[in-house]
Amino acid sequence: MKNSSDFNFGDLQALLRFGHKKLPDTCFLLLNVQDADAAKRWLSAAPISNALAADRQPGTALQIAFSAAGLRALGVEESVIQGFSDEFITGMSGDESRSRRLGDVGGNAPEYWDWGGDPQLVPHALLLLYAEKNGIKVWRKTVEVKPFNSAFHLIRQLPTLDIGEIEPFGFVDGISQPNIDWSRQQSTDPHQRDHYSNLLAVGEVVLGYPNEYRQYTARPLIDPKIDQFASILPNAEDQPALKDFGRNGSYLVLRQLDQDVPGFWKFLDQAVDSDPVLRDQLAAAMVGRQRDGSPLVPLSDDGIPGIPIDDKLNRFNYITDPGGNRCPIGAHIRRTNPRTGDLPNVVTGFFNRLIRILGFGLTRPNDDLVASTRFHRLLRRGRAYGSVLTPENAIKANAPAAERGLQFICLVANINRQFEFVQNAWVMSSKFGGVQQERDPLLGHRQPLKSGIATDEFHRPDPDGPMRKTCHLPLFITVRGGAYFFMPGLSALKYIASLSNNRKDDSL
Ligand code: HEM
Repeated sequence: MKNSSDFNFGDLQALLRFGHKKLPDTCFLLLNVQDADAAKRWLSAAPISNALAADRQPGTALQIAFSAAGLRALGVEESVIQGFSDEFITGMSGDESRSRRLGDVGGNAPEYWDWGGDPQLVPHALLLLYAEKNGIKVWRKTVEVKPFNSAFHLIRQLPTLDIGEIEPFGFVDGISQPNIDWSRQQSTDPHQRDHYSNLLAVGEVVLGYPNEYRQYTARPLIDPKIDQFASILPNAEDQPALKDFGRNGSYLVLRQLDQDVPGFWKFLDQAVDSDPVLRDQLAAAMVGRQRDGSPLVPLSDDGIPGIPIDDKLNRFNYITDPGGNRCPIGAHIRRTNPRTGDLPNVVTGFFNRLIRILGFGLTRPNDDLVASTRFHRLLRRGRAYGSVLTPENAIKANAPAAERGLQFICLVANINRQFEFVQNAWVMSSKFGGVQQERDPLLGHRQPLKSGIATDEFHRPDPDGPMRKTCHLPLFITVRGGAYFFMPGLSALKYIASLSNNRKDDSL
């Protein structure tokens, strides 16, 4: 494929291509199927937005995704569901070891969540509605037409009060995203991928296409000889005799993360003896950017593939700051995207590569502790919610408590290798990149290690003096709910909607 316009955007849900940033009014609904036939009738006519034509985005959008329980409730065969990944089938809260790896422990354990914490009660479907300012009421009425109310039971409407481009702590969010290589032009050959690239293989976020390993991620494939209704589905690119239920679909990870904004700013304020400049510096060091989004490291002079040369907020990597003097190694954005190439710290040439692969030639002991980034990227599509509270107001004794946080959403083709890896090995790890006794300063759960060693610190190297250390970070973010969903392509949605006919025909 040479041109991105050759990509079948008409079969892709729009959220994979657009963040719907121009549609600030949102309504996120968790639903259970109560009448499967009615649900399928509604689905067959539902105005689900596809990803065609960037310049013709209408003033509204609608996306839908299902949990494994939801697919079952709609009559998708168990043999098809088993084609999905284990973590999708088991669910986010489905086993204790997963919860531990995700850092869902202590006060963040699933048993305390408002929704999704009981694996038996995971919502069947997630409906995402987007509209222009003040447009959501009308859009919701248009979407929830007959037989919607008999088809679904509303479990919960998630808070989505629009807070603008910033997240509740006051930082501009949604700046850095992988650039999807829709035209499939970039090589995934490791020999050509030493440097960090922001261009990412389609198969890293959309099922049915080669990923960064040049492989097709496992997904349900259906034999049309056995299931004639599968003819509606696209052929599997790697096995053309089979129909691909996953193609143009993606896994959607949703986590409702409550942010304690007064708690965050009051803690920082105390840590710096109420000096507003130092307070801002500490907050920026924890995030890895200034509040206006400016990076803490200088822009790279060399071009970074997939990042426009005039993108002053993203044209950087950490090669010039190996020790974290400018952007601490444990900062949130450095943990969640360390911007490393296949061999961190860039090694070119056959012999140099070989020496490095064999484990020699490291200039610093921690050089290789961070994995290559390209296998662990996330396409973030979340929305912050709440009312704005400036740091100055947040530190006041009577700072108003209110519901504030992030509906964290990311789209990935492999939940385990992407979302769970980032959350476990980078965000929650107390040894990320060689740092010690700290987890992600925003997201960390602060529980000590089994040995009793604390993990509630945050370190900032100072090139002119000793390491600056902030101790006893409290919990700033609490998990309120979460689940794994599958956001199907439009053909797969048609297939699901056709399943009741399928059953009736079978029984004739
Ligand atoms: C309430 C919770 C969170 C807050 C307040 C938050 C805040 C931020 C902010 C301010 C940025 C910088 C702006 C940008 O580059 O877009 C950022 C970037 C990012 N965050 Fe979060 N985040 C949260 C949760 C998460 C979670 C749960 C993950 C993944 C497990 C995550 C992954 C990322 C990634 C991948 C980036 C981009 C890093 C880069 O490419 O440089 N965030 N976040």
